[in-house]
Amino acid sequence: MRYAQFVERVAGEGSRAWDIHYRARELATQGRDIIVLSVGDPDFDTPPAIVEAAYDSLKRGRTHYTSMVGIEPLREAIAERHRRITGRRVDAGAVVVMAGAQCGLFASMMCLAQPGDEVIVPEPMYVTYEAVVGASGARLVQVPLRCERGFHIDPDDVAAAITPRTRVILMNFPHNPTGAMITADELEGVAALCRRHDLWLISDEVYATLTYDGPHRSPAGLPGMGDRTVVVDSLSKSHAMTGWRLGWVVAPGELSYHLANVTQCLLYGCPPFVQDAALVALSREFEELEAMRAEFRRRRDRVAERVNRMPRVRCLTPEGSMFLMIDVRDSGLGSIEFADRLLDAEGVAVLPCDGFGPSGVGYLRLSLSASLDVLEDACDRIERFLGGLNR
Ligand SMILES: Cc1ncc(COP(=O)(O)O)c(C=O)c1O
Repeated sequence: MRYAQFVERVAGEGSRAWDIHYRARELATQGRDIIVLSVGDPDFDTPPAIVEAAYDSLKRGRTHYTSMVGIEPLREAIAERHRRITGRRVDAGAVVVMAGAQCGLFASMMCLAQPGDEVIVPEPMYVTYEAVVGASGARLVQVPLRCERGFHIDPDDVAAAITPRTRVILMNFPHNPTGAMITADELEGVAALCRRHDLWLISDEVYATLTYDGPHRSPAGLPGMGDRTVVVDSLSKSHAMTGWRLGWVVAPGELSYHLANVTQCLLYGCPPFVQDAALVALSREFEELEAMRAEFRRRRDRVAERVNRMPRVRCLTPEGSMFLMIDVRDSGLGSIEFADRLLDAEGVAVLPCDGFGPSGVGYLRLSLSASLDVLEDACDRIERFLGGLNR
């Protein structure tokens, strides 16, 4: 049977990057002692009050269709959060609730880019971006995040990649997989390019609350950026709610109207009991979440210290997110071979970053989503594996 070209556009390198993760899960199912550090899923429970809110909502019968774009109080709470972070006045009408940030990224890209357009994405990039851009039919244009700059974006690199076909810059800070943030100057540099060349900026801010050395900065609040910045965010990482599939887009101008039409043919709205729980999540402070961030910081400090004491590998200390990139280029192994052999020999699953873009070649992404004890164990195993390579 014949398939549409679409199926090829969503099946690039990125979709294969998860192979090692699935293999690790399979080995664990077979009873092998595997430490899975290949996925960015906080190993913390969703705060109980949020879970309770979902139970209550279910018991109240909130199990039917609801508004396509999200229930009004939740949209208002998201708008309020956006106002707090960016200082920009938006109302609930700008908010479209989605099944996770992933869905928001896809829907936004489908509204903003099409065949013949170019979309600039800093790389190494989050693995699904290739398919998100590919789905729209636009061409993905990558700009490097260089290790020498601490994986920070260089607006000059972005400027050099802009052509008359450029429509969108898609960026994600705090960054997956490098853990880099964006400085005020870098942000202004990118914003100036958007204004000068009349570009959209999609800002994926799913790690906005997981920052360790300074505040998160959103471009949406910068002068002249409110009308061209699309903020995509979710509760997945901030509230340890990856499985709830609840995210949103804060969309300027008519984009929220277009997104509403996309949700109608793609989602038909998100579950009301999940939205009720999300409203509780956004309406209170949770001490569990501050504890989670503090714990991620402790893990980051310890793992970075240990990796940098190992032979032939090194890493930068991430400024945000929940990942750490390990440079294995001096190990004598490519990152795919390193990751495969590490999994077989020592049962540690990390993602090779080769599929994340050219600047990821020779790096592994380690997720900090395991307890400190488990991470210490993983570091022991990686060290043992490296010791074995020397012999
Ligand atoms: C950079 C980035 N964007 C988006 C997502 C998807 O998040 P969600 O669970 O909200 O769909 C992830 C998940 O790992 C991510 O790392």
